[in-house]
Amino acid sequence: MERVNRILRHEAFREHLEKNEAAEEGRIFCRHNMGHFLDVARIAMILNLQEGLQLPQDIIYGAALLHDIGRHEQYAEGTPHEIASARIAPALLEDCGYTPEEISRIEEAIALHRSRETAQRADLAGILYRADKASRACYSCKASEQCSWKEGRKNLEIVI
Ligand SMILES: [Fe+2]
Ligand SMILES: [Fe+2]
Repeated sequence: MERVNRILRHEAFREHLEKNEAAEEGRIFCRHNMGHFLDVARIAMILNLQEGLQLPQDIIYGAALLHDIGRHEQYAEGTPHEIASARIAPALLEDCGYTPEEISRIEEAIALHRSRETAQRADLAGILYRADKASRACYSCKASEQCSWKEGRKNLEIVI
């Protein structure tokens, strides 16, 4: 987990996280903070085991910690956050010791984490997509009625 903890301590990571927190202060819907990143990482780890994908832990955590890191740009400039996050992630991952091949896999998974076509893939992008969606506790959300997620997509039960 050494490389994962390097991300955690990385100055750019902390700056982007703070910008997300500032942009979401008072937000009634799901947030894109450290709690969410860790929920996604841990659910992705469970999926990784259940589906026998054998993806390395630091690849999964790297993708989960960074998949929404550029969310603040979506609020500020309207940039879709998967695009902002996929742009921010590579330099940060490189600083933290990830290889070019690992970086491109993580970058791809981040860029596709909102594409429905990714949902069924048996790889990093697929588990990131599924973990992200499964992480949201719609069944206990007070803002559920105003949420933009369509009724059929909300998590109405705990599935993982
Ligand atoms: Fe996202
Ligand atoms: Fe997310």
